[in-house]
Amino acid sequence: SSASLTELDARYHFARDVATAAASRAFSWYQQRQQLVVEHKKDPQDVVSEADRNVEQLIKYMITERFPDDAVLGEESGGDTQGARFVWVVDPIDGTSSFINGLHNWCVSLAIVCEDEAVIGVVCDPNHHELFHACRGKGAWVNDKRIQAHSAQQLNQGVLGISSSNSQPAEPLTSFISALLHQGGMFIRTGSGALMSAWAAAGRLIGYYEAHMNPWDGLPGIVLMREAGGVTNDYLHNDGLKNGNPVLLANATLYPQLKAMLPASFPL
Ligand code: IPD
Ligand code: CA
Ligand code: CA
Ligand code: CA
Repeated sequence: SSASLTELDARYHFARDVATAAASRAFSWYQQRQQLVVEHKKDPQDVVSEADRNVEQLIKYMITERFPDDAVLGEESGGDTQGARFVWVVDPIDGTSSFINGLHNWCVSLAIVCEDEAVIGVVCDPNHHELFHACRGKGAWVNDKRIQAHSAQQLNQGVLGISSSNSQPAEPLTSFISALLHQGGMFIRTGSGALMSAWAAAGRLIGYYEAHMNPWDGLPGIVLMREAGGVTNDYLHNDGLKNGNPVLLANATLYPQLKAMLPASFPL
């Protein structure tokens, strides 16, 4: 994409401010989570609260005030992306189920797409005071430390992050997990796909797989993993920004091994 350095820099800087402010607002709600009225969407496992909507409003307000021509697409309130050069894709709370149940595994997740390329990814975890961030060509970071994908050369040398949701068929995950276990692999599922993807970029997990991710959950990890020296699928192809896509993240050695384990009916 042709975004100039100053255009990108300004947004990279501001994206970190927005994620930090949003995470701090979300953390205040988290401390009062017992008082929250929890509703569910189509599926009883798919929960949402006033905290999600309120934090998304804050994020949208901050971005539109600073960059009025940029578009914002959020999980809770959608958004019109047509004609905008920069599209901010945001999830105010990724891991709402963890959030509501008092598990410290949730984050604010944010990415920027410029002319069909994901250029910035930010994930803020206020419980552990960690801000993961990456911008095209500038490396991947947690706070002020550089991060790198895991160095494992075999699937049995670490833990893979995985997720699924009830709106997705069970099959790709059940056969994938079976293949993984048969090769001596191990997995973790925390409730926040965006945060696990950031952990993969930081080399804490050997990678990440989810058969379908929405763009506000999937895009930050795509940018983080590429800048951390790893490999990802081409997430934005086939209208990924609109429809979502699968996500596979790993280092260059493990990526093809993991890809080969996907059932044929659920390609990348
Ligand atoms: C969910 C998380 C979870 C994934 C689900 C998502 P939410 O997001 O990312 O890891 O498995 O598919 O819906 O609803 O907590 O923002
Ligand atoms: Ca949700
Ligand atoms: Ca999410
Ligand atoms: Ca969410």
